[in-house]
Amino acid sequence: MRFARITGTGSYLPAQRLSNQQMAERLAARGLETSDEWIVERTGIRARHFAADDQNASDLAVEAARQALQAAGVAATEIDLIIVATSTPDMVFPSTACIVQRKLGVHGCPAFDVQAVCSGFVYGLSVADAMIRSGGVRKALVIGAEVFSRILDFSDRTTCVLFGDGAGAVVLEAGDTPGILASELHADGRHVDILCTPGTVSGGQVLGDPLLKMDGQAVFKLAVGVLESVARAVLDKAQRQAEDIDWLIPHQANIRIMQSTAKKLRLPMDKVVVTVDEHGNTSAASIPLALDHAVRGGRIRPGDTVMLEGVGGGFTWGAVLLDL
Ligand code: ACO
Repeated sequence: MRFARITGTGSYLPAQRLSNQQMAERLAARGLETSDEWIVERTGIRARHFAADDQNASDLAVEAARQALQAAGVAATEIDLIIVATSTPDMVFPSTACIVQRKLGVHGCPAFDVQAVCSGFVYGLSVADAMIRSGGVRKALVIGAEVFSRILDFSDRTTCVLFGDGAGAVVLEAGDTPGILASELHADGRHVDILCTPGTVSGGQVLGDPLLKMDGQAVFKLAVGVLESVARAVLDKAQRQAEDIDWLIPHQANIRIMQSTAKKLRLPMDKVVVTVDEHGNTSAASIPLALDHAVRGGRIRPGDTVMLEGVGGGFTWGAVLLDL
């Protein structure tokens, strides 16, 4: 049997960190009121990072990828698949993955983007796992990279305080022992409108609104339901129990969604990796960013069983259970 295992992780946060207080000052300049207290109480977010004007998703992705390659002891030239999960690509085309490939100084291997918004990393990891298990690929780079600050509507205080920029990456390698134990992906396009950036490029112009729109309460309700069901489905597939999970890494959107998921799975919060307080919601980057922080912080160790759970626009959701 051939399996896929994560052998290295990496991440990158842009230098500019904005506290809630600094966001409140920014919004006040536009005549909008918010506070650290409101943001912390509703979301658990205390700060987020924003990319510099000249930093694109590929720049963040390359920094995270280099760290992951170094941690795995793998050279960029050995990589035979690059997947980037992003909803904020550098260009309409080519893919951010091709731009990352060029910036890593390699060529030839397949490189493509996955667009599943905040579930993108879980989608990308599942695709890479399948491509490794089916025999074609030995070493894959899977990256989540976002510059959501580019699509935020700073006149909408309910959404602009939630998101941040960043990137996380893993190296996934073929081997004889299971790393990725099971995965499960879903989408329900009936909910396209509750979380979207509806603008597009046409005839040399942006058509429609190119800024993020969200019905927060509808997203909240859907998220808590699907995160429990997909976790249980993945545990069933892997023939494991919730007690077997050493670490749960949910998409870092909102502490209340994470608390609710942990409670439904009867997992104590000290088994849940939380970075939303310092990173905000970095969409497809949030899970690999949190994974890398927990690995580098010495919390997640080789051999630990980890559940990754994504949920986001589409509506999309999915989970991966793995042994590190
Ligand atoms: N500061 C101060 N007040 C605010 C702010 C703000 N930043 N934003 C909204 N308010 C006000 C509203 O105007 C409203 O005031 P009103 O009662 O006078 O009309 C009040 O706060 C309540 O607004 P709601 O939108 O009802 O607030 P809610 O309790 O639903 O919280 C939130 C909003 C945090 C977005 C919540 O709905 C939520 O967490 N949803 C989940 C969505 C999420 O996490 N999305 C992330 C992206 S999706 C994903 O990644 C899966």
